[in-house]
Amino acid sequence: MRILFLTHAFNSLSQRLFVELKKLGHVVSVEFDINDTVASQAVELFQPELIIAPFLKRAIAEDIWRKHNCLIVHPGIRGDRGPSALDWAIVNNETHWGVTILQANSEMDAGDIWATGEFTMRRASKASLYHLEVTEAVVEAVLLAVSRFQGGTFTPEPVDYANPAIQGRLQPLMLQPTRAIDWQQDNTAIILRKIRSADGFPGVADELYGRKLFIYDAQPEHSLRGKAGEIIARCGGSICRATIDGAIWIGHLRDKSASHPFKLPACMVLETEIADLPEIIADKDTGYQDIWYEQEADVGYLHFPFYNGAMSTQQCQRLLQAYQQACRQNTKVIVLMGGPDYWSNGMHLNLIEASDSPADESWCNINAIDDLAMEIINTESQLTIAALQGNAGAGGVFLARAADAVWAREGIILNPHYKDMGNLYGSEYWTYLLPHYTTEENARHITQARLPMGTDEALAVGLVDAVFTNNFSEFIQTIKQQALEMATDSGYARRLQQKKRQRQIDEKQKPLAEYRQQELARMKQNFYGFDPSYHIARYNFVYKVPKSRTPMTIALHRRKNADLQID
Ligand code: COA
Repeated sequence: MRILFLTHAFNSLSQRLFVELKKLGHVVSVEFDINDTVASQAVELFQPELIIAPFLKRAIAEDIWRKHNCLIVHPGIRGDRGPSALDWAIVNNETHWGVTILQANSEMDAGDIWATGEFTMRRASKASLYHLEVTEAVVEAVLLAVSRFQGGTFTPEPVDYANPAIQGRLQPLMLQPTRAIDWQQDNTAIILRKIRSADGFPGVADELYGRKLFIYDAQPEHSLRGKAGEIIARCGGSICRATIDGAIWIGHLRDKSASHPFKLPACMVLETEIADLPEIIADKDTGYQDIWYEQEADVGYLHFPFYNGAMSTQQCQRLLQAYQQACRQNTKVIVLMGGPDYWSNGMHLNLIEASDSPADESWCNINAIDDLAMEIINTESQLTIAALQGNAGAGGVFLARAADAVWAREGIILNPHYKDMGNLYGSEYWTYLLPHYTTEENARHITQARLPMGTDEALAVGLVDAVFTNNFSEFIQTIKQQALEMATDSGYARRLQQKKRQRQIDEKQKPLAEYRQQELARMKQNFYGFDPSYHIARYNFVYKVPKSRTPMTIALHRRKNADLQID
């Protein structure tokens, strides 16, 4: 079928649906919801058999939904309506939640139901639930709705609020007063729910040191205590604030009125105010946890669930230290776990944007990632695995490829390209790594197509080596089993030896330093050269400047007809 996505952005959920529907042989084209005229034009050009709205912030124009079948993805249970579905589910401490695929009609989220999906709520941020549980439930429900639509006999079910099975209701937009934290009344669990309900967007408005700030990225603290509401410690970039029954870590803040009005590490936003705060070194009992190591038998696991998958210069340096320490342990295999939402999204663009010299900071950041990539490539003491529980983008994908094996959870999405960020050339030794694992043609496709990639394709082109179950906890178990098998395999010593030998041969042919130098020469042009594309693209990304048109890579209907047939 010809399926048109009308969407506010090509976010992770839309990307996953795009990949899944294309896999089933559908021709999928995408149009950003810029205005009604542009949307109507896209419909006219593409003549879709079905329109899907994976992520829409406003209603579809009447002249579109009257003439075409439009399916709306709503992240709420049957009967739920309104723009803050997940926010309410978190604040109300729901134990189960769901998604609904509705037919668009004159009332927002009130159309007949084509399919639904359910999931158990996890204690996690809205963004994290959206990335994992919501996405999985949506994929299943949309595929069911599409097959029902294709079948031609299914009648979608009207929402009847008299039916006791319909548990959802119209819920208003959640405003800041509902999210407001009363530090003298709310306990830690309530505070965490409030912050998580607003994370990634819009954050919880609060007052710290007399400044109006938005709070994100909260974690419970297990040991420290203090007077409720007071800031009592710092750890890395985070601050610890006492509650009536404990304390929480706040990783990120946003000051809407500052010169850098976007999310930044809390300590950076409060730099002057917290100068005298005691610094805590994170361990398993205390502190903000963004890097930790654990060991089971002969396998070491290095976790680095960095907020939004962004890796700053400092984070890369800390991770490099942790990695070097992991290499010194008596293990046979090291598994690089990343985090549940993201494995890595490459350089930390917000911190780069906020620095005095974004070009200099970009330079430091890419060098810090390269140092880490180099250490992984040169590891002689263990075999290494990148375990992609979550998505990876840009440099994050190539950093993963630096490991001896890349194992992915089935449902993740990779964006293995840099070009969308103002034509960045990229580094992380991708010019060394890609030819190792894939053909020249595939390498060109990977880096030039600027398209999201599912795990089937990633496996076929050699970006990943194995794909395991999509179920999150089963994936971790499988990784552990497989890593242990690798460590205890009778061929382990031979494999390690072979890896060392191959590295020596490669190094003789062309030293790693030369690859790096050549990549960085191109990056230097991106950072310091005449063409400002990278700086403009980064600014637009960090400031979330709305897109004024849909990229041709995904708007097939805006290409020549000949291209349309090929896809
Ligand atoms: N640096 C800083 N923040 C980043 C980031 C990065 N490298 N990558 C993602 N983020 C942030 C986004 O700004 C967004 O922030 P929010 O919480 O304020 O909304 C959040 O992570 C989620 O990103 P989003 O784009 O909405 O997620 P997605 O899963 O739909 O898309 C990517 C994933 C990777 C396609 C997209 O985030 C991206 O292009 N990132 C930039 C990658 C890059 O160019 N890195 C630098 C070159 S190495």
